[in-house]
Amino acid sequence: MNLITKSTFVCTLLLTATLATAETAKSEKHAKQATELRQSVFSLIRSNMGPLGGMAKGKVAFDIEAIEKHALRINQLSYMIADYTRTDTSKFSVKTEALDKVWQEKDLFAEKIADLNKSSAHLMAVAKTGNEGEIKKAIGGVGKTCGGCHDVFKKD
Ligand code: HEC
Repeated sequence: MNLITKSTFVCTLLLTATLATAETAKSEKHAKQATELRQSVFSLIRSNMGPLGGMAKGKVAFDIEAIEKHALRINQLSYMIADYTRTDTSKFSVKTEALDKVWQEKDLFAEKIADLNKSSAHLMAVAKTGNEGEIKKAIGGVGKTCGGCHDVFKKD
């Protein structure tokens, strides 16, 4: 096992453990704050995916350093998803696209987080080779793991 695989494995275990301790929001106010933080994490993820998608499609100039930076950030942000989705807001009237399943199907949600964690780690590794074709494929791989979770856990 190389270092990335090893740390991904350990973190998958940690993510699962964190999700197991999910708690219901204590009040409407708490639910609103938790929702805002949760959405902030995904907004940040998207702000890093945007330029990567642009490069994969040839709309943004190809830039290895930028790719490494965005891949690293997405990877780091993937570690935050479990924590920032811990608070169950499903019983409150918050403005959210998160489906109740996020708090009902914890193991599957953890798997989807792990998919994003792995695909972004893979992109980090492939970026080092400088192989444009492989990098574009790896960017596509990251994009697939976004959709893979949204299909199940997010409203359209
Ligand atoms: C493990 C599941 C999961 C993964 C992986 C995931 N998302 Fe999401 N995403 C969600 C959920 C759930 C929401 C709904 C959050 C809410 O509205 O409370 C969401 C919301 C969003 C939003 C809307 C945020 C807002 O301000 O309301 C964007 C943009 C987004 N995701 C982009 C991405 C991108 C880009 C990726 C991949 C790089 C990604 N997501 C990966 C589950 C995921």
